[in-house]
Amino acid sequence: MPTQTGQERVAALTCFSCGLSHDPTKLNNVCQRCGLPLRVDVILPDGTGPSAIDEDVASMWRYSPVLPVDRGSSVSLGEGWTPIIEVEEDVWIKDESGNPGGSFKSRGMSMAVSAAVLLGAERLVVPTAGFAGAALSAYGAEAGLPVTIAMPRDTPSAIIDECLSNGAKVHLVDGTIADAGGWLAENREDGEFDVSTLKEPYRVEGKKTMGYELFEQFGFTLPDVVIYPTGGGTGLVGMWKAWDEMEQMGWIEGARPRLVCVQSSGCAPIVEAHGRGAKVTRPWPDPVTKAYGLRVPAPIGGFLCLTAIDETKGTAVSVPDPVILDTMEEMAAATGLDMCPEGGAAWAAYRELSASGWIEPGEKVVVWNTGSGTSYQPL
Ligand SMILES: Cc1ncc(COP(=O)(O)O)c(C=O)c1O
Repeated sequence: MPTQTGQERVAALTCFSCGLSHDPTKLNNVCQRCGLPLRVDVILPDGTGPSAIDEDVASMWRYSPVLPVDRGSSVSLGEGWTPIIEVEEDVWIKDESGNPGGSFKSRGMSMAVSAAVLLGAERLVVPTAGFAGAALSAYGAEAGLPVTIAMPRDTPSAIIDECLSNGAKVHLVDGTIADAGGWLAENREDGEFDVSTLKEPYRVEGKKTMGYELFEQFGFTLPDVVIYPTGGGTGLVGMWKAWDEMEQMGWIEGARPRLVCVQSSGCAPIVEAHGRGAKVTRPWPDPVTKAYGLRVPAPIGGFLCLTAIDETKGTAVSVPDPVILDTMEEMAAATGLDMCPEGGAAWAAYRELSASGWIEPGEKVVVWNTGSGTSYQPL
């Protein structure tokens, strides 16, 4: 086991793009030079292998030795260590719907709020497509920090109510998460720390536990393909980072799962950029989808998603909304899982890629159901 604890495990905060180093003892958002996301460089345990995992902890904090915050300092509501269910031969759903706040966003927010508390934040704000706000309101309440959330007016009311009942201040804007971000940029008060997707470095550290968890649940191997519904991209980037760390520690060798980014045809900036072989995304002009988590027209980490897709020899697929919603309902009825529209999109992409032969018979595939469909009320 490593001797370092908590924040002492952070070697550096480095810009993913230009490499500029930032002071990890301070609250940071994006790179001071280029405005792009920062990476947390964790001092990884040496030579322990997967025995570093604390099997007695039934949450993402079982991976504490590879996380930048120690479990003893965590703000936790029991997030992660979610079920993985084989729904067809060689095809699994990784089901995140049972997480606190109803989605995988709790992993990133548990970590971000834990780090923010250690670094002295007093108030937290976030623009959100919905679930990230629900998660932040829960962890803010647990940490005793006031939270302000800006979100689209058409966010399902069950999610808005959850934020309010957790004591957050909620501001509704016309438009998308991008407009919510614009509202916060103008209205954020001094002393409020912004934990936006990839504009705050520690959320990726929470999301990377999905990559570790998959490895452990697969009997210390990895599947051939991972299909993931992508909006801002923290999940994709987090898993890619996890596998990179696992290789550095000698837990795995070369081969990684091929990462599939799934978006709605109504808002698909990463799919569009991937299709023309670009390294960066262009803002999507008219974002429309009921899979609200995928309605992210200008993801700041789009370039990282494109790199992760390329490096793993993955691909990017868009699915029309009617197919997303039909697939969600069909899969919920067929499996009994609380499927969300984003999970429906991922399953529809799985079907398309198997039909086209991109996924070959016998390949092991994991499809992500990132949140709870019952939170989408009314849809
Ligand atoms: C249910 C759901 N799935 C997927 C996503 C996309 O998340 P990411 O930022 O990791 O791409 C979101 C984001 O809001 C979401 O709420």
